[in-house]
Amino acid sequence: MWKDGAFQDQVAVITGGGTGLGFSAAEALGRLGARIVIASRSAAHLEPAVAALAASGVTARAVVTDVRKPGEVARLLERTVAEFGRADILVNNAAGNFLCPTEDLSPGGWKVVIDIALNGVFHTTHTFGRHFLAQGRGRIVNVVATYAWTGGPGTAHSAAAKAGVIALTRSVAVEWASRGVFVNAVCPGVFDTPGARERLWPTEAQRAALLDDIPLHRFAAPGEIANAIVYLSHPEVTYVTGEVLVIDGGMHLGKGLPGHLSSSTGISESPRRDDL
Ligand code: COA
Repeated sequence: MWKDGAFQDQVAVITGGGTGLGFSAAEALGRLGARIVIASRSAAHLEPAVAALAASGVTARAVVTDVRKPGEVARLLERTVAEFGRADILVNNAAGNFLCPTEDLSPGGWKVVIDIALNGVFHTTHTFGRHFLAQGRGRIVNVVATYAWTGGPGTAHSAAAKAGVIALTRSVAVEWASRGVFVNAVCPGVFDTPGARERLWPTEAQRAALLDDIPLHRFAAPGEIANAIVYLSHPEVTYVTGEVLVIDGGMHLGKGLPGHLSSSTGISESPRRDDL
């Protein structure tokens, strides 16, 4: 799908890059030649991830970083520049979330999610954005969620944070467009990871109900979302900024055809690339 070596001279920093979607994005960019820095609060997530990236031939480093702390974000940039000379791509993937009815949410619970998922994105955007502006080029890709505009029952804190990130994305995209810095977002639907399986569909009935809400009738593979991050980071994509790219199998548009109709028309199984 992408030319080998497309990111050969590029340095990509991925927050929350040790696991899940962040790791998939690191792998996808690294396989195309980018040198990778993954950041996370947890050294335990980072060490195996760096080893796995190295095993697939990707040059990668890890920097333990709490994005809530501007000093640690500044250190992340310093370490990246010390190691690789500069940064070109920032993927803001780190987040924190838990399900909680809003009336039961404590001020501390609200604050911790806003601090990670919104304030953290501001800190990295501000710090790396200044670096990108100084070098006259850079790419930022933020990871948001469709509940930023639909609302997220049980995740009001996270929905509010993601709505804020979309506003931040569009604001800086316009501010920095003429200065070589592209700022976009990907908006994944439900993707299949062990964490999602545990939290979102612990039972077969919940899995079936969720699949029923997705016109494509399947969950995304993390690689399908990572591909969109690659697209928005790609040096040849030069006329897209301030965009929020939804990759949710059509879920935000409404349910697909009911099962009995879709199977009679032969479209119940959507194609999935197995190499993703
Ligand atoms: N339900 C209700 N409140 C919760 C909660 C839950 N499951 N988890 C945390 N909180 C509240 C705590 O009660 C506390 O509030 P208080 O100060 O008013 O008592 C506040 O949040 C901070 O909790 P703490 O445990 O100190 O936060 P933390 O920084 O250790 O972790 C998260 C908070 C959200 C990051 C944590 O849930 C986490 O690590 N989640 C896994 C990673 C993740 O969510 N990834 C994102 C996938 S989209």
